[in-house]
Amino acid sequence: QKLQLNLGQIEKAGYEHFMLKEIYEQPSAIKDTYRGRMLADRGIIRMAGVDDNLEKFLNAKRIIVVACGTSWHAGLVSEYIFEDLARIPFEVEYASEFRYRNPVINKDDVVIAISQSGETADTMAAIKLAKENGAFVFGVCNVVGSSISRETHAGAYTHAGPEIGVASTKAFTTQITILSLMALKLGKAKGSISNSDYHMYLNEMEQIPSKIEKALQSNDHIMEVAAVYKNAKNCLYLGRGYNFPVALEGALKLKEISYIHAEGYPAAEMKHGPIALIDEHMPVVVIATKKGHYEKVVSNIQEIKSRKGKIIAVVTEGDTSVKNMADHVIEVPETLEALTPLLTTIPLQLFSYHIAVMLGKNVDQPRNLAKSVTVE
Ligand code: G6P
Repeated sequence: QKLQLNLGQIEKAGYEHFMLKEIYEQPSAIKDTYRGRMLADRGIIRMAGVDDNLEKFLNAKRIIVVACGTSWHAGLVSEYIFEDLARIPFEVEYASEFRYRNPVINKDDVVIAISQSGETADTMAAIKLAKENGAFVFGVCNVVGSSISRETHAGAYTHAGPEIGVASTKAFTTQITILSLMALKLGKAKGSISNSDYHMYLNEMEQIPSKIEKALQSNDHIMEVAAVYKNAKNCLYLGRGYNFPVALEGALKLKEISYIHAEGYPAAEMKHGPIALIDEHMPVVVIATKKGHYEKVVSNIQEIKSRKGKIIAVVTEGDTSVKNMADHVIEVPETLEALTPLLTTIPLQLFSYHIAVMLGKNVDQPRNLAKSVTVE
């Protein structure tokens, strides 16, 4: 029999789309991110770009992230972890706004540019401005040798491997991984986190790839939920604390590939506007994991239910209270609060993926979007 080789299929390793392949690659991509850097059993985090410039980080009066799109969301997640563990004032800026404001930049500021492609024009311009003003600029890029990685003083690659799908997936979780390692390393060096907590985080980080594998096992269930809501006109995503940026990222994924209008909100802000939109046609994705303001999120769920909104809740394995209120629950394994974004993001990626496929959209190359935006 004649063997017919289809190059596209080979590249996708049997997956229907690059996006799905990249979603499934996350356990190994994250291992590649921390391999050789994190030695959990010995309590070591080695990152040349940070080690060689440790004083700059430790003396920093402030860290400012500049980024766009999904990378900006990774910056928002890292704000929580840097504040919690390293106790360094932290700001997250849209590169496009930062570059055209008149930002106050000091010599003792550290600017972290986060960029999958390393080519985003606004991020590039923001780091040039930061450098001109004497800041130390650190890059977190995926593409080796990219413009931003060359323009920065030092950096750390995410090593996620090529990301082809325009909607970013594994770049996001590996960016969070790198930034979490940096926060842990600096927290340890500053003494702002206890030795036992430091070891606990390292050990838990090592478990994340297998916990993502577990989260991926909900794929069939997520596909069923996606089938129920594929014709929704709008969708709201809510989360608090570490999972607020995850809500933003979940909404962005749905917008990007399915063209359904979606908005992410901090759950408590719902009462200041979005609650007016809730009726029986409004699906609301709520991230309600056990750690991190759980009771408060549960009361937000009750408010939505009393207005007949449909709840899709992302919960910690074994949760029973939310299960009784939500229309659908999707479980993720338990982990430390600071690492929950690495797990809660997974079902949201799959949810938007399946909706886009069911609607017949071009998942890997959505209309009007580009993988790397090299113009303003
Ligand atoms: C584009 C891509 C997004 C990405 C953003 C920032 O909009 O479609 O997926 O998050 O650019 O890109 P960067 O390469 O700087 O992370």
